[in-house]
Amino acid sequence: MKAYVVRFSKQQRTEHVLVMSTFLVLAVTGFPQKFFEAGWSQAVVNGIGGLDRVRWLHRAAGVLFSLLCGFHIASAIFSVLLGKASFALIPSKKDFSDAITTLRYYLGLSNDQARFDRYDYRQKFEYWGLVLGGLLMVATGYVLLAPILVTKLFPGEVIPAAKVAHSNEGLMAFLVVITWHIYNAHLNPDVFPFDTAIFTGKVSRHRMEHEHPLELDRLDATKGDKKGE
Ligand code: HEM
Repeated sequence: MKAYVVRFSKQQRTEHVLVMSTFLVLAVTGFPQKFFEAGWSQAVVNGIGGLDRVRWLHRAAGVLFSLLCGFHIASAIFSVLLGKASFALIPSKKDFSDAITTLRYYLGLSNDQARFDRYDYRQKFEYWGLVLGGLLMVATGYVLLAPILVTKLFPGEVIPAAKVAHSNEGLMAFLVVITWHIYNAHLNPDVFPFDTAIFTGKVSRHRMEHEHPLELDRLDATKGDKKGE
């Protein structure tokens, strides 16, 4: 029996690298525009080669990010149509009871720990936050990209509203990533200094027993090819 389980497919790993890189470019080129008076913004803009280049890069990365979102959603719809979807990321009643069980455990009120399946409630929350937040960024980003066209179809107020939503949702997404996601992927004592699973695709059986015991039980029972040695 292998000591690890293959948890993420090549497609999932590639999507993660691409989203991570485009998100980084969007943050580095977006925030100096939002906080344009700050000294660090001017240093970043000068370092990149001027405002025109910063804006061009932001728009190019934005279009790439929107294509990635489109691809991800289309591929999810296809897997549903082909009957291959797992629905493992859909929130369920168990997520709410797991959250309460975990809270009670951390508060020392109970010794029971929740047993998670493929994704726990925190992972689902983060995933849906990224998908819904990403869609809002894409929709408002395209409004800012083509304001004249948009005002032919919608009232003019849509443009400043889109700018406020884009700017503040962008900041919130960034803060969520650097607190929540960096904690889970790097600072969490179970994975410190770096959870490599989304890059290698592999997770040790030991971690699976601890973090996703229900999925491991199912893999062992079905002897699927995702199971390790
Ligand atoms: C998800 C990551 C993204 C982040 C963190 C982000 C962040 C930002 C920020 C902070 C600004 C400055 C807003 C202000 O002046 O207050 C901005 C502007 C802008 N963003 Fe984004 N953005 C993201 C995605 C996108 C996408 C997907 C597009 C769509 C193509 C886009 C297109 C634009 C445009 C056109 C502007 C106006 C600046 C200009 O005219 O060059 N952004 N963004």
